Amino acid sequence: MPLYKPSNMLQGKHIVVGISGGIAAYKIPALIRLLKKGGAEVKVTTTRNALEFVTPLVLEALSNNKVYTDVFATGNDHTTEHISLPDWADLMIIAPATANIIGKCANGIADDALSTTFLAMRKPVLIAPAMNANMLSHPALQQNLERLGQYDNCTILPTANGFLACGTTGDGRMLEPEEIILQAETLLTKQDLKGRRVVITGGPTREKIDPVRFISNFSTGKMSVALAEECAGRGAEVTLVLGPCEAHPQQLPLNKIKTINVESARDMYSAAVEASNDADMVILCAAVADYRPSETAEHKIKRSADDGGSERLQLNLTENPDISAAIAENKHDGQRLIGFALETDNELEHARHKLHRKGLDYIVLNSLRDQGAGFGGDTNKVTIIARDGRQAECPLESKRQTAKDIIDFVCR
Ligand code: CTP
Repeated sequence: MPLYKPSNMLQGKHIVVGISGGIAAYKIPALIRLLKKGGAEVKVTTTRNALEFVTPLVLEALSNNKVYTDVFATGNDHTTEHISLPDWADLMIIAPATANIIGKCANGIADDALSTTFLAMRKPVLIAPAMNANMLSHPALQQNLERLGQYDNCTILPTANGFLACGTTGDGRMLEPEEIILQAETLLTKQDLKGRRVVITGGPTREKIDPVRFISNFSTGKMSVALAEECAGRGAEVTLVLGPCEAHPQQLPLNKIKTINVESARDMYSAAVEASNDADMVILCAAVADYRPSETAEHKIKRSADDGGSERLQLNLTENPDISAAIAENKHDGQRLIGFALETDNELEHARHKLHRKGLDYIVLNSLRDQGAGFGGDTNKVTIIARDGRQAECPLESKRQTAKDIIDFVCR
């Protein structure tokens, strides 16, 4: 399960959470809590059945607002809350969305607080279905989902496979609150990269010595994944060419990220060069091994002299191709190339030199002397340098925030 870390994307946003009557409603207080933690203002509307699973008191305490459950209640703040709520909201999240509320929303039936609010909503609506696997696969439900997904402002989230409240295992679980929030953030993000293609290289490469050993480096791929998620969140179609590492992007419906997993520098070279042909932006974030063993032993190299080994082992190394240089050579008009430099001394001078030597438009400098920067951790501290001399220093911050700063700088 992805761990949600509040970014500043929810700050000050107005979000209506619509809860319908499914067992997954018990998770919605946690969703509201996370939205509030991220700085959003939350108002809640529910169907009557939702209140069988979660009480208005909990929802009011967490949202700090009155819960709208009854169109005809005399205590409502406005006489027409199903109109004022959508006017107030930047985004509506319907979670869990039962078969019943999906059917109503898809077909314009408005007979309770939630469905009337939905019908008056013109801003984005994120819908998180949850139900039994047989109900989910019923053609009637599938038709309703398809119809709902065709409305311009509606985004339907997938369901997850797993244990269902009815005691069976299958498809139909609601996505976790953390996953729903990540998608909400994407919907609230400006789509300034819509229609753009971005290629990103990331992670280390492995250069095989024999079937069980390789040369590599400490890169974890986290910065490239943060960049991929940032670009995809802003509407780009992203190809991430990723060396062997544990980091991987969130595979959710709004993230248009295609990941190509590669192992060696030469694999990365082929995949990245090909993908870059029609890219608008190429970000070279990978820590590519500069050299590979000139020969890879077919069998495991033995240590003991009895087995054909020796006390000293010499590896001959051959230089790997430079991916950034090859892409720069074929660079087309309007394509932006962004490289990274990890330096230990004379950082700015080395980075500027690398920027020009490699034909890049921008270079992002990490200094290994800065604590919390570079490989491994969840934070980074970088200086971004443009070919035209512009320069920006970013503070120590999360890699996701660094990714945002880099893209903001490059798109300025
Ligand atoms: N890079 C690349 N292909 C390589 C080596 C590096 O695309 N074979 C890219 C990296 O992804 C990075 C930039 O070039 O964006 C700089 O990488 P770096 O390792 O710092 O540069 P090198 O040219 O290898 O210089 P050196 O290691 O001598 O500092």
